[in-house]
Amino acid sequence: MPYPIKKAVFPVAGLGTRFLPATKAMPKEMLTVVDKPLIQYAVEEAMEAGIEHFIFVTGRNKNAIEDHFDRQYELMNILKEKGKIEQITILERDLPSAGQTSFTRQQEPLGLGHAVWCARHLIGKEPFALLLPDMLVQSKTGALKQMIQGYEKHGNNVIGLHEVPKSEVDQYGIVKTENMEDGQLKITNMVEKPKIEDAPSNLMIMGRYILQPEIMMLLENQNKGAGGEIQLTDAMLKLLDFQKFTGVSIDGKLFDCGSKLGFLSANVSYALDHPELGEEFRENIKKMLKL
Ligand code: G1P
Repeated sequence: MPYPIKKAVFPVAGLGTRFLPATKAMPKEMLTVVDKPLIQYAVEEAMEAGIEHFIFVTGRNKNAIEDHFDRQYELMNILKEKGKIEQITILERDLPSAGQTSFTRQQEPLGLGHAVWCARHLIGKEPFALLLPDMLVQSKTGALKQMIQGYEKHGNNVIGLHEVPKSEVDQYGIVKTENMEDGQLKITNMVEKPKIEDAPSNLMIMGRYILQPEIMMLLENQNKGAGGEIQLTDAMLKLLDFQKFTGVSIDGKLFDCGSKLGFLSANVSYALDHPELGEEFRENIKKMLKL
């Protein structure tokens, strides 16, 4: 049995320029899909997968994230007075316990690889999960939990994969794979934001990773890559020289909430599936579209 994954890193330092003016004073990770901020979806996914230590790599203007995972005494008291027990239960359930969160800062926007490296002292010598909260997966079993099953079998490093149209491969990290006997994929190459004609496949790295701690020493010496940023994918490619990487095709609907279109689509999809709002929302949409 490989070492259990108890720590997860959430890089949340990005400026969110694509969502201005919404993100002028508010972190993009606090944008809501129906009634929950993006970051909470990621934390809940990690909780479901057994994570016990939630490490946020933040930046300037990100205090709302820290506050979101704190207890709001005034609010709780008011809800108690009003007898809103259900809301209290939900707020309590979604909150990591005392001492389960850590916050560190990426002081300069030098890239995803650099953001992950900023968490090195909190990670220490343990393997860890990495979740990019922009990427939202709507699925029965959370994406990270799906990957833990692959990790328990193969150990080492695991990357969540998803197919994208060929025309979009230049926006993501793309992998080359070989089929393994158990239906999982052995990763043999990876490249960050390749030109469409150079992409080794249309399997994207979809923002969920399980990584061994050796990635940190590689990130420490990693040169800038695509977009002039320190890229995690480049360091993972070096790690591939001496450790295995398994790819797990993630089951579910994937929304890239870093783009307006992906974010809006996520809202529609989650609203349509919402137990209380879904039916009425569907009727409203039909009316709007004159269906
Ligand atoms: C990052 C990763 C990329 C991955 C993507 C998923 O890119 O570098 O490999 O496919 O996240 O969202 P970014 O979105 O930071 O440009």
